[in-house]
Amino acid sequence: MASDVAKPVLCAEALSKRFGGVVASDRIDFSLRRGEMRCVIGPNGAGKSTFFGLLCGILRPDAGRVFLKGRDVTHLPAFRRVRMGLGLTFQTNRTFHALTVAENLETARRASARDAADDAHFRAAYAAFDLAGSARLLARELPHHQLQWLEICMALRRGPDVLLLDEPTAGMSPGETMFTADVLKMLSRDGLALIVVEHDVAFVRKVAETVTVLHQGAVFAEGPVEAVTQREDVRQIYLGRVREKAG
Ligand SMILES: Nc1ncnc2c1ncn2[C@@H]1O[C@H](COP(=O)(O)OP(=O)(O)OP(=O)(O)O)[C@@H](O)[C@H]1O
Ligand SMILES: [Mg+2]
Repeated sequence: MASDVAKPVLCAEALSKRFGGVVASDRIDFSLRRGEMRCVIGPNGAGKSTFFGLLCGILRPDAGRVFLKGRDVTHLPAFRRVRMGLGLTFQTNRTFHALTVAENLETARRASARDAADDAHFRAAYAAFDLAGSARLLARELPHHQLQWLEICMALRRGPDVLLLDEPTAGMSPGETMFTADVLKMLSRDGLALIVVEHDVAFVRKVAETVTVLHQGAVFAEGPVEAVTQREDVRQIYLGRVREKAG
C-alpha cells in the first residue's frame, strides 16, 4: 500500500534516559522511513549507544516511546523487537567463533521466529561479500572485516525490515570500509531501512542521505549529509575530534 511506504518503519518520540546525573538521551524525536539509510553520528559520550540501546530494547527509557512498524514497542524486550523485524549488529562482534560460517548463518536462521521467506537482502549481501567461498571455515579463521560481514549477514538472515548497525566498519581498512558502504547502500536501494551509528566520516558521506547528529544526549542537527557535515557548529562538536581513518 502506498500509505505504508510513507509510514515510518521505526520512530522515537521524546525518548529520554538518565544515568544518575547524566542525561544520556534528551527528548529525542526520530523517524526512519522504509528504505531509508540514516547515519547517527556524534562525539564520544554524545549518547549514540544509549540511543541504539533504547531503539533496540536493551535499555528502557525513563520517558518517551519507540514505535516499530507502527506498533508501540517501548515495553518490549530486544528479542521481541528482533522477532518483529529489527535486525541488530553490535560494535563487538557476536559471531560464534567455534562454528563455521555456514553454521553461524544456520544458527541465525533458526533463531528467527519469523518466516524468513523473504531472504533477498540476505542473498544479495552474502553474494556481494563473497562469503560462499568461506562457508566451511570457522568464524575464528576469518579476517576481521569478514567477521563483520558475517555478522551483518546473520542479522539479514532473519529477514529484518530495519537493520540497526553499531559501527559496522570499526577496525576495517579504508578499502574494506568503502566496500561495506557500497553493499549497505545496495541493500538500502533494494528497500531495506538501515540505521548506522558510525564514526567514519568518509563512510557517512558515502552512504547516507540524511544524518542525525547527537550531542549531549539531544539531536543537535539533522538533515542532508553534505550540508550537515559542513556546518561549522557540527564540525566544532564532532568533526574536529572524529577518528577519521588514515588513507
Ligand atoms: N550504563 C551507564 N551508566 C552510567 N552512565 C552511562 C551509562 N551508559 C552511558 N552513560 C553515560 O551516558 C552518556 C552517553 O553515553 P553513550 O555511551 O550513549 O555515548 P556514545 O555517543 O555512544 O559515546 P562513544 O562514542 O564513546 O561510544 C555518557 O556521558 C556516558 O558516560
Ligand atoms: Mg557508544
